[in-house]
Amino acid sequence: MSRFKAVIFDLDGVITDTAHYHYLAWKQLAESQGVHFDHAFNENLKGIDRMGSLDLILASAPRSYTPEEKLALADTKNLHYQELISTMSSNDLLPGAVEALDAVRRAGLRIGLASVSKNAFTVLGRLGITDKFDYVVDAATIARSKPDPEIFLRAAQELGVAPADCLGVEDAVAGVAAIKAAGMFALGIGHPFVLTEADVVITSLQQFNLSAY
Ligand code: G6P
Ligand code: MG
Repeated sequence: MSRFKAVIFDLDGVITDTAHYHYLAWKQLAESQGVHFDHAFNENLKGIDRMGSLDLILASAPRSYTPEEKLALADTKNLHYQELISTMSSNDLLPGAVEALDAVRRAGLRIGLASVSKNAFTVLGRLGITDKFDYVVDAATIARSKPDPEIFLRAAQELGVAPADCLGVEDAVAGVAAIKAAGMFALGIGHPFVLTEADVVITSLQQFNLSAY
């Protein structure tokens, strides 16, 4: 039994470790522009859309960029990222992810995906789990990146569930903030010292227990 009517999952870092591929692609791009890039900085980019991430990186660059140059750099990063994800398969599902999705389904709740990645449909396809979702938000139709609640509110609306009846699952600080701003219960995947705004934090979906929240 669950007091919720829907669970809305983030993708990168929750269901699969594409967060690592984003890290590799951004690191190469940042260093090509003379910007130091490490895991601590990457933490700030989780859940932030492509152009927003690029702006954060280029803020420490030695020069400024025209909008055209920025678009070209974003494309370069995305092509590298797409190359990295091109060999993904169901082997890249994080432990507990399928079990969590199946548990939500068995409990009779609706299932949504709220990722600001424009590659989310490709990644779901490669993982072989597209069918497990009742609704996947198309990031291309979202105007404001997390921490804005827009993407979670859209998912709830399309699932036909009130935000207060939704459980959101996120690994990013910005994502947890978006869930809370949407008026939902936030389940963090990661460390409680990092995801301080989350209602509950677990280390991976292996610990997912719907009836406990
Ligand atoms: C997710 C990731 C971010 C990434 C964003 C956009 O939110 O956590 O690190 O920048 O998606 O991804 P995209 O595939 O559209 O570049
Ligand atoms: Mg994430």
